[in-house]
Amino acid sequence: MNKRLLCVISHIPFGTGLIDVGTDHGYLPIELLRRGYRGCLYASDIRSGPLQAAVRSAQEAGLEDCIEFRLADGLDGCDPDTVDTIVIAGMGGDTICGILDRAEWCMDPRYTLVLQPMTRAEVLRYWLINNEFEILEEDLAEDAGILYSVLKARFGGCTRLKEAELYTGSCSMLHGHSLFPGLLDRQIHRFRQMQQGMEAAATRETSGRSAILLTVLSQLEEMRAHEDA
Ligand SMILES: C[S@@+](CC[C@H](N)C(=O)[O-])C[C@H]1O[C@@H](n2cnc3c(N)ncnc32)[C@H](O)[C@@H]1O
Repeated sequence: MNKRLLCVISHIPFGTGLIDVGTDHGYLPIELLRRGYRGCLYASDIRSGPLQAAVRSAQEAGLEDCIEFRLADGLDGCDPDTVDTIVIAGMGGDTICGILDRAEWCMDPRYTLVLQPMTRAEVLRYWLINNEFEILEEDLAEDAGILYSVLKARFGGCTRLKEAELYTGSCSMLHGHSLFPGLLDRQIHRFRQMQQGMEAAATRETSGRSAILLTVLSQLEEMRAHEDA
């Protein structure tokens, strides 16, 4: 089990039922069972190959009877009345938004969402905030030199984030996290490069975007200085 999935698992509440969307190898539901999870567990995937891999993993662990395997797109794979937790890990931020967008039933405070975007986490945070989800927790995991965000969210709250926090997660939630300075350094480097590229292109069209980049960059630098203080 890699550190990314362990971090996801550490944010999962042990409730009455859970769907792991895009389960692939099925490691997450298997590990939850090993840790004593007793709720209803769905492992779903849109492709039959990964779902078969999940069935095989469960058989090897002797746990195949404890998991409901579903070949399904997104949240179509479960009965909403039987789950209280939705896990979507290891997909792009925009794919996760698409899955949530197509399942209006998840916009209900009874569901806890544990989400782990591989890319475009800013798109996911923006979607959550604009659809009245509250971001309850943010965490970071590092695996093979790559930093991953893990978010816990629930419908029916309000989260305010500065522009730069869309890219990093909430500064107040991540302040003091051992991986947060590294994440800020990477984002500062990225935004500096984008800013330099835009300056080199310098047309009237790019000047508006350049101003936004500068705002994000100065917020990131402020957050970085706050971590050092
Ligand atoms: C990279 S794997 C992630 C596996 C595991 N969740 C993890 O975090 O290690 C992504 C999986 O999501 C599945 N997937 C992609 N889009 C999906 C969708 N709309 N509904 C269900 N599964 C999907 C893919 O088939 C693939 O098996």
